[in-house]
Amino acid sequence: MNWRALRVLGQAPSPLTLGEAVLHGLARRPRCIEPKFFYDEHGSRLFDAICDLPEYYLTRTEMDILESCAAEIAQLTGPDCTLIELGSGASRKIRLLLDALRPRHYVGVDISHEFLLKSLQQLARDYPWLEMKALCADFAQEISLPDDLGTANRLVFFPGSTIGNFEPHEALAFLQRVRRLLQQGGALVIGVDLKKEIQLLQAAYNDEQGITARFNLNLLARLRTELAADVDLDGFRHWAFYNPEPGRIEMHLVSRRRQTLRVLDREFEFLPDETIHTENSYKYSVEQFQSLARRAGLRPVRAWLDRAKLFSVHYLRVASAHPLDRTHRLERSWLLNRRRA
Ligand code: AVI
Repeated sequence: MNWRALRVLGQAPSPLTLGEAVLHGLARRPRCIEPKFFYDEHGSRLFDAICDLPEYYLTRTEMDILESCAAEIAQLTGPDCTLIELGSGASRKIRLLLDALRPRHYVGVDISHEFLLKSLQQLARDYPWLEMKALCADFAQEISLPDDLGTANRLVFFPGSTIGNFEPHEALAFLQRVRRLLQQGGALVIGVDLKKEIQLLQAAYNDEQGITARFNLNLLARLRTELAADVDLDGFRHWAFYNPEPGRIEMHLVSRRRQTLRVLDREFEFLPDETIHTENSYKYSVEQFQSLARRAGLRPVRAWLDRAKLFSVHYLRVASAHPLDRTHRLERSWLLNRRRA
């Protein structure tokens, strides 16, 4: 496919702006700011650096697993599939699958129009034989694919354990949406970080070079540069720990002293040690994740783990007709009729 001909379809719904989200989140108790605001240009570069850290085993372990199971994924999927990647397009992981599967179509889905176009143009240069489509959409909401793609043999790829950043009920809703996107016969390949020894988990989010701390504190830097906030970056510190009860790493920004943060004509008083909760990263056992997938109407076919059982890659297939499909179809047609009326 000629990379110059690549056009981005769709438009992501306008999300809450940084300003709206910050005012809302800082007024809540406990205070919070959603993790999606980590990823401005600088934050995305810091995240890339995190992926290469010795302590952050997730990326390299998932890559190793994918390298060893790509041929099996291709075998399970069969020829001429439509490969749909939720999230990116630039990573080495998708290239592994493209090489092994040689899909008929590739669809990259991302919320950032610019990032999507750039990464898919690069893929189009490197894979001239591949038919591609770029779809700007928020996968935290319902996605519909262009009609000309057909519905046969769809494979969704969602790597990186990004599912861990959803609350469990959001993760279930996400898997249900993926199931609807896949339709009968489709499958999902998803990377999920595993529960493990606490020290290893905590080290991955408290690296020695302090890159994760900078990633977390970059949120406050954004408030200063984008919202002209009056906030002392040295007045907060990074805090990440494993909370065993919900089974998640929590990241917070902790106020080092009593202080006032001023943003958009509002003042927020912080006590010493008061925190802003910035991220959850849920960890699953294989059984826990498979049971979540089953509840969403996805049947576990295969789970690949590395030797040290740090990370898992799951192959889940759409289970035959699921009661939720009918409910969802009825709800959608009711909504459509209401809009028409
Ligand atoms: C993107 N996501 C899967 C990462 C994680 O591990 O939860 C984000 C991250 N936060 C701190 N380090 C990495």
